[in-house]
Amino acid sequence: MKIVQTVMETVARFAPDREADPLLHAGSYIGQRISRVDGNLKVSGGARFSAEFDLERLAHAAIVCSTIAKGKVASIDVSGALAAPGVSAVMTHLNAPRMKAPSLVDEGSPKSFAASNLPIMQDDRISWNGQPVAVVAAATLEQAEHAASLVRVLYEQDTAQVSFDELKAEAIPPSDIMGEPAELSIGDADTALANADVVVDHVYRTPPYNHNAIEPHATIASWDDDHHLTVFDSTQTVSGYRYALAEIFGLAEDRVRVVALFVGGGFGGKAGLWQNTVLCAAAAKMLKRPVKLALSREQVFRVVGGRTIAEQRVALGSRRNGELTALLHTGITATTTHARYAEQCTFPARHLYAAEHLFVGQKVVNLDSVANTWMRAPGESIGTFALESAIDELAHQLQIDPIEIRRINEPTTDPSQGSKFSSRHLNEAYERGAVRFGWSGRHAEPRAQRDRHWLIGQGVATAYYPVYRFPGKARVRISADGTALVQVAANEMGMGTATAQIQHAAERLGLPIDRVSLQYGDSDLPDSPMAGGSCQTVSIAASVQAAIEKAHRRLLELAGKDGGSPLAGATYEQVVAHAGGLVRGDNPNRGATYTAILKSAGQDCVEAEASARSPRELMKYSAGSYGAQFCEVRVNEESGETRISRWLGSFDCGRVINPTTVISQLRGGIIMGIGMALMEETLFDERKGRIMNPSLAEYHVPVHLDVPQIDIIYNDIPDEHTPLGAHGVGEIGITGAAAAIANAVFNATGKRVRHLPIRIEDLL
Ligand code: MOS
Repeated sequence: MKIVQTVMETVARFAPDREADPLLHAGSYIGQRISRVDGNLKVSGGARFSAEFDLERLAHAAIVCSTIAKGKVASIDVSGALAAPGVSAVMTHLNAPRMKAPSLVDEGSPKSFAASNLPIMQDDRISWNGQPVAVVAAATLEQAEHAASLVRVLYEQDTAQVSFDELKAEAIPPSDIMGEPAELSIGDADTALANADVVVDHVYRTPPYNHNAIEPHATIASWDDDHHLTVFDSTQTVSGYRYALAEIFGLAEDRVRVVALFVGGGFGGKAGLWQNTVLCAAAAKMLKRPVKLALSREQVFRVVGGRTIAEQRVALGSRRNGELTALLHTGITATTTHARYAEQCTFPARHLYAAEHLFVGQKVVNLDSVANTWMRAPGESIGTFALESAIDELAHQLQIDPIEIRRINEPTTDPSQGSKFSSRHLNEAYERGAVRFGWSGRHAEPRAQRDRHWLIGQGVATAYYPVYRFPGKARVRISADGTALVQVAANEMGMGTATAQIQHAAERLGLPIDRVSLQYGDSDLPDSPMAGGSCQTVSIAASVQAAIEKAHRRLLELAGKDGGSPLAGATYEQVVAHAGGLVRGDNPNRGATYTAILKSAGQDCVEAEASARSPRELMKYSAGSYGAQFCEVRVNEESGETRISRWLGSFDCGRVINPTTVISQLRGGIIMGIGMALMEETLFDERKGRIMNPSLAEYHVPVHLDVPQIDIIYNDIPDEHTPLGAHGVGEIGITGAAAAIANAVFNATGKRVRHLPIRIEDLL
């Protein structure tokens, strides 16, 4: 696997550049503020989410979760539950259908998307506090929940490893981090640090965080017979769930259908397959009728993992003029033996600064807990908190402006890969941001600005998230009535995927936007990558581009058979899509509409399915989204309360396809960053391994009053190497956000807080 990758990277590095996407600067629809195509459906209640499909004979399920972290189910008494009104079955490890344990991402198959590789309700073993041990199915939800409360479980407890602090001394490097080495060393960072003029060397701590999408995870599963499974599920990974379910139930992939038309937010918590989906399908198989399993808010905390706890060290050595001579960023995160996921907290340090000597390294400890998982910029969000706090500390120590120190250390080639950047304009983002925010009005000295008992301060931090593009397919049908339909399995969880791809397809087809529709959210449609890793827009764009190219080539063939057609004899390279058809590039008056071509060929439509070209641009170049987060806080000197009073995010994320949806993504990320910095924290009882605050009453997320007006600006410079010139925008908003807040709090109060969340008691 590694060897193949290296060979491919070498080939890619020397391969000639592919021509830039012809739509790089097209702007009929791309770049326009277009309202979400599914907006009306959503606000009028017409959009159906996974729990809202009504199937005949639908049974409602409720789960029972373990109350110990490790051990065995000694006995389980379901008689009370079975006798309760409306109950049709109780499923436990004693009677659940036999199922294969799923494989993790890239373990066995790159197609698998399970968050954990534990067998699901197949034996008496307990691996975390909250693991489902029984599923009760009844006629109504209330009956199922009541009966679930009557299930009596006795456990044999083993000693569980649930304390990160107790285990961290034994942390070991993971085999890899998302395919990259866990450790990377350039030069001799330790020696350079020891010899540096100025040194900043600190440890930063962040707590575990949990997923709280507005829509809790929900599934409806139904079997046609024992060999055809249909699942309505709130997943981010339509095609990946189909593969994982096929693997678990021993079915061919085409016997499983996963439907996820609308998803109420995911953020990574619905990317990996969790036990609830599988248990719903298993219960439906056992009952031979459709079953709905919708997790409660508390159960999302129990059954679905979140972001790891982390401890990171950042050590910076610099010259008096601010040039970094040494950058060391190391981190310990927690995972489980059944997830083996190390959040990539050192990734930003691999790409952001031109330090002469660089060392990054990560280690993990294994806890007996629910599997940790992706959560919006999984490693980059906590990684930038540590790194960007440390850069601010260095700037303060050197008495250099925090923006200036970043400019001084801006690299010209990627610091860890040596490759060119595909498109990087971080300095411009800072410059434009500084003007808009009024950075020059800031006082470098802490505690210099106040408004009665409110101390005021401003901070900046760099945002960073890599560009990913994954393989996928798309199908396009161009009809004689002048309409087009694009089909992809991918889903829409609120970020604007459907709108952006309709804009894209209309532009590439030269059709009015209201003549183009997109069908999505169904694994029976052509395979797409997950809605994750901020990859969806460019990934789908590449597959739609390929499908449209194929359809255009077919249309040209048809036109070529008609000697009278103005397109006869034209090659694909000689035509462009324009005004509802194809025209010659050198003479827009010589062409034919799709309708004319199809009618003269006697066809209703032309249809083409194609795979995206391989993402060679990402092997050749270092590609990322960048940004500058500007934040102003007011800290109440008497109460210690921190309020965010102003925010500006200035981003460099390639071409912006739709300002409305892009700005919303970036704002959403920043709001999640505010939660991470000031409110959110999973409280983990280290005696029992149980989450103590599994509700939105106790796990605080930002509410409207916590969030100021967030201004967003962006460079909008197309990346010549990516489809549409675009980069991802889903995750970058959260990166740098917590550091910008901590840096602003320091500027306001003179207090440097190196842990999250920043609390009232830290500032009193
Ligand atoms: Mo994102 S954390 O890849 O959904």
